[in-house]
Amino acid sequence: MFEALNPLPQDPILQLMLQFREDTRPDKVDLGIGVYKDDAGNTPIMAAVTEAERRLLEGETTKSYVGPAGSAGFNNAMAALILGDNSPLIRDGRTSVVQTPGGCGALRMAAEFLRLCKTDITVWVSTPTWANHLPLLGGAGLTIREYSYLNPKTLEVDFAGMQETLETAKAGDVVLLHGCCHNPSGADLNLEQWKEVTSLIQRKGLLPFVDMAYQGLGEGLEADAAGVRHLAGAVPEMIIAASCSKNFGLYRERTGALALISGTASVNSAATSQLLGIIRSHYSMPPAHGAAIVETILGDEKLRAQWQDELNGMCERILHLRHAFADTLAPVGDFRFIARQRGMFSFLGISPEHVVRLRKEHGIYLLDSSRVNVAGLNDRILPRVADALNNVLK
Ligand code: LMR
Repeated sequence: MFEALNPLPQDPILQLMLQFREDTRPDKVDLGIGVYKDDAGNTPIMAAVTEAERRLLEGETTKSYVGPAGSAGFNNAMAALILGDNSPLIRDGRTSVVQTPGGCGALRMAAEFLRLCKTDITVWVSTPTWANHLPLLGGAGLTIREYSYLNPKTLEVDFAGMQETLETAKAGDVVLLHGCCHNPSGADLNLEQWKEVTSLIQRKGLLPFVDMAYQGLGEGLEADAAGVRHLAGAVPEMIIAASCSKNFGLYRERTGALALISGTASVNSAATSQLLGIIRSHYSMPPAHGAAIVETILGDEKLRAQWQDELNGMCERILHLRHAFADTLAPVGDFRFIARQRGMFSFLGISPEHVVRLRKEHGIYLLDSSRVNVAGLNDRILPRVADALNNVLK
């Protein structure tokens, strides 16, 4: 039976990660996969995470099952992190959160849930969007359509284009939005634009579905959630997929959360029971360790403050690098948009041929789309990256 299968082309992000690992040049530079790096080029374990793990190891008494929803403590803490401590959506029982294996688990379970609600569902994704959105959502049987998002010339949000395409969506269609730190472009909606999108969604009867993978890495935990919270407060139903991979640095622990917001508490309770049934039939229950770390951190005042400090440091470092990168590139061209964008990613707007030359001739790795992980830079390598770019572009 297997003989009929053809090899599947590799995921471009994961393929680049492997290519980078195999490159033996000591001065190679990884601006590919979206993992945060410190000044020394390492992806460190946050000190708050290490401390939480120590406590868990000491206090853990069982490895028994957690159940399809995961840990209630984690779920409550994530609800507050995303929607705010005093959100009426939590107080009124209109929100439920379940622990998932990473943000991907949340996205896929949400897609399966949508498909259960209605067999014929269209989800609108931004052009461009994270490459894995397509198999995660399309693989569950959702029809994918694209809305304009990025102006390819300025590499900034084409808001008029976004509104124009979303005007053609039908009632009941789903709109996937990036909560903050748009992946791959770094071009985010401002609060005014979130408000306008909210009105459009309300007026047309669309269902918002937010991917919140980088909360805390754009401008801070609260500021990054402002648009999402505004939207959540205004619509009857909404889905949010959140990830703890970046803001807790828990990548390989696969820690995420899926929030369902419904019109009433009783609708929410029925919807959540269906979601739990879907989870049971896919992976039964989420892995415990990463969520236990997050729960320990968010549930302890001192540890939470330490984590926030560390996260703020990461966020500030990225903001610094965005400005420094744009400044260093000034002799090469106008890259000031990088300083205006947020989160880990920006496009350089160069051709795939230039990207390949950067990789081959200079050992600098970015995605063929020209997406760079700004967090992979540091002040020492900036001049070299600028020189290399100058060299391939001239
Ligand atoms: C990225 O976009 O590089 C990250 O979200 C990692 C991944 O899984 O693709």
